[in-house]
Amino acid sequence: MESSLDYIRSYPAEPSSLIPLLQRTQERFGYLPREALEEIADYLGVPLSRVYGVATFYAQFRFEPLGKYVVRICHGTACHVNGAVNVSGAITEELGIGEGETTEDGLITLERVACLGCCSLAPVIMVNDKVFGKLTPEKARKLMRELREGKLDV
Ligand code: FES
Repeated sequence: MESSLDYIRSYPAEPSSLIPLLQRTQERFGYLPREALEEIADYLGVPLSRVYGVATFYAQFRFEPLGKYVVRICHGTACHVNGAVNVSGAITEELGIGEGETTEDGLITLERVACLGCCSLAPVIMVNDKVFGKLTPEKARKLMRELREGKLDV
């Protein structure tokens, strides 16, 4: 991991660089690899536990790589009143993982989001950049099966 943080020296070696460095690292890798956190801790001269403490405090940081497909399940008000909980239940059951988790094969990550900005289509999910609306639990299950089989055009 020596050369992977080639940008680290462009930040002052002081504790106030911690959050900017975490953001930059997540941009680079899509998540925060443990080795990178160790390197940041060393560079800034702060304990690794402090780096983890800060990183886990902010929801924006993740510690596992994202799946090839990211399924965002909307739990905003419009989606909630139109059955988002049932849609989410069908998806998590179909995939065998919870929101915030990634399937073991690294194919699909589930995320919980507040509003995807297309409330008239509620309940809504997004798969990568594509929106699927007016879902029922059955439709959501079918989408997940197609996604896993590579049949969904996303
Ligand atoms: S509440 Fe779900 S898209 Fe707005």
